Amino acid sequence: MNLRALIPKNIQAFRTKTIDKLMECTGGEHALKKVLSPLDLTLMGIGAIIGTGIFVITGVVAANYSGPALVVSFGIAGIACAFAALSYAEFAAMVPVAGSAYTYSYASLGEIWAWIIGWDLILEYAVSIAAVAVGWSGYVASLATGVGIMIPAAFNNPLGTSGGLVNIPAMAIILLVTVLLIIGVRESARVNTAIVAIKLGVILLFLYLAFGHIRPANWVPFMPFGWSGVITGAAIVFFAYIGFDAVSTAAEEVKDPQRNVPIGILSSLAISTVLYIAVSAVLTGIVPYSLFAGTSAPVALALEQIGISWGSALISVGAICGITSVIIVLMYGQTRIFYAMSRDGLLPGLFRQIHPVYRTPVKVTILVGTVTAVLAGFLPLTTIAELVNIGTLAAFIIVSLGVIVLRYTQPSLPRPFRCPLVPLVPVLCIFSCGCLILALPLVTHLRFVIWLAIGLAIYILYSRHHSKINNDTSTLDCRKA
Ligand code: ALA
Repeated sequence: MNLRALIPKNIQAFRTKTIDKLMECTGGEHALKKVLSPLDLTLMGIGAIIGTGIFVITGVVAANYSGPALVVSFGIAGIACAFAALSYAEFAAMVPVAGSAYTYSYASLGEIWAWIIGWDLILEYAVSIAAVAVGWSGYVASLATGVGIMIPAAFNNPLGTSGGLVNIPAMAIILLVTVLLIIGVRESARVNTAIVAIKLGVILLFLYLAFGHIRPANWVPFMPFGWSGVITGAAIVFFAYIGFDAVSTAAEEVKDPQRNVPIGILSSLAISTVLYIAVSAVLTGIVPYSLFAGTSAPVALALEQIGISWGSALISVGAICGITSVIIVLMYGQTRIFYAMSRDGLLPGLFRQIHPVYRTPVKVTILVGTVTAVLAGFLPLTTIAELVNIGTLAAFIIVSLGVIVLRYTQPSLPRPFRCPLVPLVPVLCIFSCGCLILALPLVTHLRFVIWLAIGLAIYILYSRHHSKINNDTSTLDCRKA
């Protein structure tokens, strides 16, 4: 079947951008610096992946949905992510251009899909940044309390929650990361490497300390809430895996991206999955799962329960480091997606202006930093954060669909990395991510539809009129300011 014939070419919204044209746009006066190595990328992936999910969400899910079968929930979410990662790796090697899933959709499915995915990724990145910054402030407050410093509730909670006015620590960490990202990508990668080392060290120490305290009786009953609990648990712990795709947003700043971006995506996901499965098995093995009800620091709590209370403070330090690196990489990813959308004309030029000295997109970084800091400072983000998962799952589905479409429409394009067993693997990704979406609450589905409707309105009123694709003759137009 000729799939190309099914795509209405004369309608602007369905026009695709050729890979050659996408690649042409990566040079010129606004080019990003190519500085990242495969190790930087793998650490960047781990930096983005391991954070609130393992340090906070594990407890909530074990107590309310999965029980000791938390390990199965992590396994299911990890398998869905592995299918998605293979599709991302194929695209990232073929189109090493900033913008990740947004750019891939532009090349394979057409402008309207690219816009939808770009809009959708704001949920994954910007809303996550705000949500994890709030989690960060919680750990800072608990560590501060441990050393006798009380942060007043008014300045550590959003307006209207627990006597809060504004969450100052959450805003402060976002603004700090904003400055770091402005200074430069290499500098940010160095800070990230140090932070990731601390985070991995703390997790390995937890496994070492806790392993001998496992009581197999704690794993019984294994599935107290049945399979439906395990699947809902998988849809929620999915949050813990978010971030491996952020590696692909860095494609333009990587040395030898065709080889190194797939390495970065797949290895960071593999390492994180192994650690998640180990931590969730040990966590539910050392204490009864019901103990985690209501705690926001399950890993620290578990260590305390087995008599290693000094470990609790150490875990808090690890969590603070871990969550900091998540904020760094997600904010980096968001600015690069906006950069790519602006280069295509779908967002104003402001979003892609590169600073002459730092060679980073300063204005958009300040914009993202300010907006997410305000969100983190003033909003209780628990319910909004659920949107993060649905947005990301939708992005994974569209990227997998894109891999299948491009294999049919442009079979001879060079593919330095090929997703195995196409179309089976992308179809399995679509199926598994679709099931996880269905397992999320109905209210999340409704909010997501509203978000997409707002995005479509912006596309119709602004982006489609300003799209660079309107002027096919100006191949290098995207390089200009
Ligand atoms: N995966 C990231 C975390 O768990 C978003 O914090």
